[in-house]
Amino acid sequence: MIQTTTTAHTNIALIKYWGKKDPVLHLPYTDSLSLTLDGYYTTTTTSFLAGDTDQVRVNNQVAGPQFFKRTQHFLNLVRTLNNSQQAIAVETINHVPTAAGLASSASGFAALSGSLNKLFQMNLSRKELSCLARRGSGSATRSIYGGFVQWHQGKDNSSSFAEAIDENPSLPIRLISVVISKQAKKISSTEGMKHAVSTSPFYAQWPQVVNCDMKAMLQALKTQDLEAVGKIAENNCLAMHALNWTSRPAFSYFTKETLQIINLVHQLRSRGYCAYYTIDAGANVKVITSLQDVAAVQQQIQLNFPQAQLTPLKPGPGIQ
Ligand code: PMV
Repeated sequence: MIQTTTTAHTNIALIKYWGKKDPVLHLPYTDSLSLTLDGYYTTTTTSFLAGDTDQVRVNNQVAGPQFFKRTQHFLNLVRTLNNSQQAIAVETINHVPTAAGLASSASGFAALSGSLNKLFQMNLSRKELSCLARRGSGSATRSIYGGFVQWHQGKDNSSSFAEAIDENPSLPIRLISVVISKQAKKISSTEGMKHAVSTSPFYAQWPQVVNCDMKAMLQALKTQDLEAVGKIAENNCLAMHALNWTSRPAFSYFTKETLQIINLVHQLRSRGYCAYYTIDAGANVKVITSLQDVAAVQQQIQLNFPQAQLTPLKPGPGIQ
């Protein structure tokens, strides 16, 4: 039996994607930029099955109906591309804690794309693979590559792809994942961004904000200016969440603890530490810091939030 395995790491957006101009192809309204992370990843094995029923397993258990449906939708797409009707077995091991607030769909669909590329012998380039992964989940587009990655919004299926800016960054960036809430988010990223696009009076400004932040971020990466990287990421994250606060009706992913961590990050910064935050479609916070300060910043956060689960992360590799 032929079976193929691929590992992909999750990524954190420093310039966020928030809004789809094409909800089927997952074409975003803007470019985005991320950092692939070493500690959190997904390994997926696929093989052909006799019969006509797909099998999907996650962490050694039969997948729930929602996960199965989303995976099968993607398998159907790949089968169509390959003129195939063969049933497929998918075995996924997620090394992304479900409550980490880091999207396992990014590493999940990147790993699934990589594995199916080998199974069907599609010989897709990494650029083509990023287009395929995008069809599973927007943020998966970027998880094909390691280090700093830019997703070009594009205008159709083949022009909306990601590319590596710096796969092995020498910038001493570190990220601390701060898990304060294990509750599943009430509004999915798909629903949240859709609502913001259609109701926030400020959404029209968002593409301009991203263009400006993107230029500044690319320059900061070029000049290896970690403080600027943190500041731009933090501002961009706040602009994204401001779209949600200004939606009608308004909504927010922040909780009381999210705001407390934000305050602490400000305090740490005023005490001279390299500390900035970014937050996705959930309550948990990711603190951007430096190799030099990561241990002290982690210690300070833990001291103030003994119940929080902290994981320090480094830049990670592309799919393998
Ligand atoms: O593609 P999704 O559904 O994983 O949406 C990702 C949305 C954010 O994580 C908030 C931003 C981003 O660019 O990853």
